[in-house]
Amino acid sequence: MVNWLAVRRHFPITDRCTYLDHASCGPMPKPVSCEVLRYYRELEGDADFSWPRWIKRREEVRQKVAKFIHASSDEIAFTASTSQGMNFIAELIAGEGAALANTLEFPATTVPWIHRGTTVQWIEPRGGIVSPAQVASHLKPKIKTILTSYVQYQNGDRQDLEAIGAIKGNRFFVVNATQGFGYLPIHVNRARIDFLATNGYKWMMSGYGSGILYVNRRWLKRFRPSSAGWRSVEHPERFENRSAVLKREASRYELGCPPFPHIFAIGAALDFFREIGFSNIEKRILHLTHVLTEELKRSHVRILSPSEPARRSGIVTFEAANARHVVKRLGAKRIYVSERGGGIRVAPHMYNTESDLLRFVKALKEEMRHS
Ligand SMILES: Cc1ncc(COP(=O)(O)O)c(C=O)c1O
Repeated sequence: MVNWLAVRRHFPITDRCTYLDHASCGPMPKPVSCEVLRYYRELEGDADFSWPRWIKRREEVRQKVAKFIHASSDEIAFTASTSQGMNFIAELIAGEGAALANTLEFPATTVPWIHRGTTVQWIEPRGGIVSPAQVASHLKPKIKTILTSYVQYQNGDRQDLEAIGAIKGNRFFVVNATQGFGYLPIHVNRARIDFLATNGYKWMMSGYGSGILYVNRRWLKRFRPSSAGWRSVEHPERFENRSAVLKREASRYELGCPPFPHIFAIGAALDFFREIGFSNIEKRILHLTHVLTEELKRSHVRILSPSEPARRSGIVTFEAANARHVVKRLGAKRIYVSERGGGIRVAPHMYNTESDLLRFVKALKEEMRHS
């Protein structure tokens, strides 16, 4: 049994507001900010003398990330954002042929392909959902890449990655894991994922500037990246400026000196989450979104998120007239949610309570009566 109230104490934001907007950005928990501060103290006192320790710590975090998504550490690179990771992927495969995506995607998933002139074939979701059967019906021979978010940012539809992996054939399967990373399981091998990108500032709560790229080892061998920096090479410490023998590992995408505080934040978040239990966190968040959905239904609000248990996530979106205005008015009451796709998106995390949700629903009803 997890003591969720004890977990909540690690989140100072709970003293000042009801924060239900983790699909936008998560507040950094104390154990994570402590780890980041430890790095800055070391930098303050020791400058570069800590470098070997930091490199060692970075590799430990790489292993933790790999374990979390069932990959190998040589398949993991640290990036600054999902967008950066998606661009590294597109650099390799955008020229291989058409890509398949759906019209609900966050632009970070599709822009890198469109920018490179790749034809994108669009799936129109039905009732806010893109089923694996719908994906299958679009898999014409010219489609070389399947692009999908794990969880859709507007309505929280959770994709069945393993079902898509099972039908992908020899196409590339590229996953934007941003809205599921940290609280929903990811098994890159079982789902036959070729490439995955995420950031760490939402559900992982490890701050802006943290990101992860997964590249299946097979593609590390096959493709040569077009981006490379002095630290992409096998022996950066030799300062060789007349050749470029790149590392074989995904860390070849880490072009310059490492963004240590962001990497350490990811590591500390994974430690914190693991201690609580990843599956406990998943269950807790899905419980909270279930409670919220039931409350909203009782208030006769039309839910835009999927109801099928396997497709649910940490995001609940519902229809609301004047959504932007209502969100602003709730903000004035220090209750934070977002407007997305014309509705209101609510995204609780593990430290939120049922009381937070009831407070939100009560305030929502008041606002709806007045607007
Ligand atoms: C699905 C998805 N991908 C990507 C992003 C943005 O990621 P980044 O700013 O790290 O590129 C968001 C932000 O809302 C998102 O919801």
